[in-house]
Amino acid sequence: MTGREPIANAAPAGGPSAVVPDAGPARAAAPRSGHQLPDVLDRRFVVVSGKGGVGKSTLAAAIGWAAASCGRRTCIVQLNTRDAMGPIFLGRDAVGYEPVRLDPRLPLWSVDLRPEPALREYGLMKLRFAALHKLVFENEVMRRLLRMVPGMTETLLLGKAWFMEAAEQDASGRRRWDVLVVDAPSTGHGISLLRLPETLLKVISVGPMADDARQMQALLVDPTRTALHIATLPAELPVNEALDLAGEAIGSIGLPSGWMIANQVLPGLADGADCEALVAAVATSDDALLRHSLDNAQAMLRWREQQQTQLRRLRQASPLPVVEVPHQLGPIHVAAVRALAEQLCEAPSAQLAGGALARGVVGVSAPAASSP
Ligand SMILES: Nc1ncnc2c1ncn2[C@@H]1O[C@H](COP(=O)(O)OP(=O)(O)O)[C@@H](O)[C@H]1O
Ligand SMILES: [Mg+2]
Repeated sequence: MTGREPIANAAPAGGPSAVVPDAGPARAAAPRSGHQLPDVLDRRFVVVSGKGGVGKSTLAAAIGWAAASCGRRTCIVQLNTRDAMGPIFLGRDAVGYEPVRLDPRLPLWSVDLRPEPALREYGLMKLRFAALHKLVFENEVMRRLLRMVPGMTETLLLGKAWFMEAAEQDASGRRRWDVLVVDAPSTGHGISLLRLPETLLKVISVGPMADDARQMQALLVDPTRTALHIATLPAELPVNEALDLAGEAIGSIGLPSGWMIANQVLPGLADGADCEALVAAVATSDDALLRHSLDNAQAMLRWREQQQTQLRRLRQASPLPVVEVPHQLGPIHVAAVRALAEQLCEAPSAQLAGGALARGVVGVSAPAASSP
């Protein structure tokens, strides 16, 4: 999984696109853009976490789009949440427990994992007989257990995501997925989710559940398969929270680090020279529209300056390379997701060259070196 194919539906015959997880619509050629998938986005288990509302789902969609565009059979994994991928890609809630194809041109699917079907699947796998499963798992006691035991729901969801990575196969016995992009819950929940296998192993150290937890843990800390990307906004509180998350996830849990993605960075729509020209024009005119334009330009400039201050702080303190993606002015549908994907794929050469990479803080293509 270190391929560097350009972003496009470039999978060769017999390559990743030849076998798809389920019968989707005929595959038309995907839009070509000539970008490449950076190594750090090209892992089997790509986790996107961060504070609520900073753009985790949007960035998970962009990373998924980028991977699928390079021919990777990709599934964006949502965890028991309101479906975000259906509205972005299909204009409606559409994703449930079974994979739903998000774009007929790309090998891109999404699931929204739910604890009850995950428990059913896990139970059937372990017990093999549906009747026995019904007896053991499908009863009120089990349902109450699921609701009451702390971490039980999350364990099932993470377990299913791990199973998708480790064992799901298509009818011909091939691995079903090349890349899973996990749209993780917001910071606090995300951290306890990613700590789960470790926590479980402290409680149960032998038996089939412990074996599974051990394999889950092995996946989470494996820099050849996993990368954690942290989404944030260029504003004070999200930056603080992102830095805390980076310290905990990478420092204390030992997750392989990906990028710190600063989302919704304002483009330089107005600069100081524009404002000076407007100030001069307003001084000799009583045109209300001109004054209004000046107010808008100054407000935009101040907002962008505040963002830039936070970005500087983020770049100085982040143990992960900081990658910026722009605030999209239109609605977040496929075109916007594609634009963000392209921005992310250009990141290593353009943005990181002058940032963390150049300072030798972290190597984008050498993630092992960046994990403790
Ligand atoms: N780069 C962006 N430009 C403009 N709007 C964005 C961008 N990223 C996210 N948004 C919007 O911000 C809101 C929160 O994004 P979302 O991905 O749902 O965040 P999260 O999953 O972290 O809660 C949504 O309305 C989304 O459309
Ligand atoms: Mg979300």
